[in-house]
Amino acid sequence: MESRSCYALMLVVVLATAVAVHGNGYEYDEDLSLSFYHKSCPQLEKIVHHKLKLWFTNDSTLAPALINLHYRDCAIRGCDASILLDHKGSERSAKASASLRGFQVIDDIKSEVEKKCPKTVSCADILASAARDATAAVGGPFWSVPYGRKDGRISLAKEAQSLPSGRERITDLIELFQSKGLNVLDLVVLSGAHTIGRSGCASLQHRLFNYKGTRKPDPTIDPRYLNFLRRKCRWASETVEMDAVTPRKFDVQYYKNLQKKMGLLSTDQMLYSDSRTASIVSALASQPEVFQHQFAASMLKLGKIVDYSADEDDTEIRLKCNRVNA
Ligand code: HEM
Repeated sequence: MESRSCYALMLVVVLATAVAVHGNGYEYDEDLSLSFYHKSCPQLEKIVHHKLKLWFTNDSTLAPALINLHYRDCAIRGCDASILLDHKGSERSAKASASLRGFQVIDDIKSEVEKKCPKTVSCADILASAARDATAAVGGPFWSVPYGRKDGRISLAKEAQSLPSGRERITDLIELFQSKGLNVLDLVVLSGAHTIGRSGCASLQHRLFNYKGTRKPDPTIDPRYLNFLRRKCRWASETVEMDAVTPRKFDVQYYKNLQKKMGLLSTDQMLYSDSRTASIVSALASQPEVFQHQFAASMLKLGKIVDYSADEDDTEIRLKCNRVNA
């Protein structure tokens, strides 16, 4: 089984690389560059690193929050910091964004960066850098972040509402990821970010008591885990860790949990029952190095998503991350 799933993963990696190289290319910002700020803001990464160290000392739960924020940014209109805008009707004001955190961290980094390199570094780049450092800080991989993203001026709550909430079918997730230039491997690997962090109980309560109107719980939940979740999630306002076994470690326990019917969201658990994704779950569960390596590769792809339909006039280097320039 193990060598079979390893083979399956290798095959998917090869296919994924082929798509990345020969695909239509319109989804990725190939103008990003590792040396983008070398001259204009050489201190950028040091500032991000230093600030995060201070914030994480006080609150280590901010690391998953920042990774999630970067994903939610890139999934709508590309990585343009549209999630950070704080006006009426923005993505951030949507009900689906209510639990997002880490905005203050980005504002704090931005104000320091503005002191050292005024009007130079986009909020989208700061967020990409922070998500990378946050991943490394919890034991995940480190990768070099290419820079040069622009900040968007458009942010719509209804677009944030359209992001998956954990109740979708795998086909929906595959299609959504495909529409952003991400493939099935990216979907399974990036879902592995749920090895850290927490979820509001509202996202899983439908699984616990009356699943799909059956008056029974979701049969794909392990009975002991079900008991635990029922106790933990008496109120929708409670939160629960996404990886019940090693919640603060960036490891492959997330995939091992799926094999033991201990996935928190139904979209997590279904990755192990769907024939398109199950073999990738098995392969990642048993190969931590592959997960670490591929997570970095998939995050790089996620971080390059750009909305080419956006007008140049609709982009800028924001001075404050929570509002567009006057
Ligand atoms: C595949 C589709 C995905 C679905 C359906 C999904 C769904 C969710 C949900 C419902 C939560 C809990 C939110 C809350 O109640 O506070 C969550 C949290 C989280 N998600 Fe996802 N997610 C997906 C993909 C991703 C991706 C691609 C990443 C990053 C690469 C990611 C990273 C995270 C992190 C780190 C958290 C924890 C946040 C925290 O502790 O503050 N998710 N996700």
